[in-house]
Amino acid sequence: MTLYRAAAIFNKYKTPFYYYDLNLLQQTIDEIKKYSTQYNYTVHYALKANANNKILSIIKNAGLGADCVSGNEVKKAVEMGFASDHIVFAGVGKSDDEINYALDNDISCFNCESIQEMEVINQLAVNKNKMATIALRINPNVNANTHKYITTGLEENKFGINTWQLDELLENYKGFKNLKIIGLHFHIGSQITDLSSFKSLCMKVNELQQYFIKNKISLPTINVGGGLGVDYHHPDTNSIANFKDYFDLFHQFLELQPNQQVHFELGRAIVAQCGNLISRVLYIKNGINTNFAILDAGMTELIRPALYQSYHKIENISKARDLTMKYDVVGPICESSDCFGKAVDMPLTERGDLIALRTTGAYGEVMASGYNLRDRVVAYYSDELFKN
Ligand code: LLP
Repeated sequence: MTLYRAAAIFNKYKTPFYYYDLNLLQQTIDEIKKYSTQYNYTVHYALKANANNKILSIIKNAGLGADCVSGNEVKKAVEMGFASDHIVFAGVGKSDDEINYALDNDISCFNCESIQEMEVINQLAVNKNKMATIALRINPNVNANTHKYITTGLEENKFGINTWQLDELLENYKGFKNLKIIGLHFHIGSQITDLSSFKSLCMKVNELQQYFIKNKISLPTINVGGGLGVDYHHPDTNSIANFKDYFDLFHQFLELQPNQQVHFELGRAIVAQCGNLISRVLYIKNGINTNFAILDAGMTELIRPALYQSYHKIENISKARDLTMKYDVVGPICESSDCFGKAVDMPLTERGDLIALRTTGAYGEVMASGYNLRDRVVAYYSDELFKN
């Protein structure tokens, strides 16, 4: 069902709200499975992109694992029924409580970001008389060619262990009796559309593998992170990312050791396109040079444009699609950065029209805030709104 046709139903609900198309989510997951299983790759879903129960249960039922970056995400994954051996825990600042919770739940792997963190996890594992399995998150110094705020794999970023620290790390590791290194972990950034960045990552992984072979550390898993981008400009005609080319690239360029498993942690590419933020025009304000369409949704419901200058396609789904006017589409929050788009072509727009902000399933609802004491944004799902 297109959003234009759905507008009649949406009109019955109080705005703003997130609307999720679960059929599209399922189709996206089916594509991922189709192309990842042909190489026997394992995919963990990065909960940080969207942790709604309904979305998580579809992803879990499809057999994907969970990639978590906080104790509460680990808890959520456990509560949603992800198997503990399919839960990994990453993050540059894991607290003792979070580590203890993950140890108690026997998660499959901690992605460790520093020697000091290894020391802490080892000590907490000693206290519990447990073995903690870890992957070393290495900062590969590979440019992801994406927005600087979502670039993670450069030396200047806070993430990962730098390669020049590896000798010292392996020296220390000998004393960490309750830690077992089972792999390497990388994540170079998010919204990566130039696949050659992943090729550079593969080259770096191949080079690093030699170091560990030389040091006689076997690495059953290579986790190449997430980061595959989506098409924010064409949400209808290009609604599913090109998973074939993505997995093919790793197959072509990663040089694996016998029995090595490759893990991925995708977030955005799984959930971005199935979500839309639906809002209503409160007011139209015509200036001399600028017409403003003031929505009832703002940066409190969707912060990405204010934070990363990100583009989301904006559509007036109450009116026919003739292009007649340009509007600055803004929210109600008392900040000039509360702007979703400047000079957006829309049909003649009036108070009460429904506006869809497209491709907001990832890092949308989950980053919503209560700034200005706003109400918590609600979510509706296609299977509830459109029961046939
Ligand atoms: N693994 C790790 C260690 C990560 O840090 C991330 C995302 C992922 C996996 C999933 O990446 P994805 O496949 O979704 O690109 N809030 C920002 C995005 C931040 C991404 C942070 N890390 C945005 O709205 O664009």
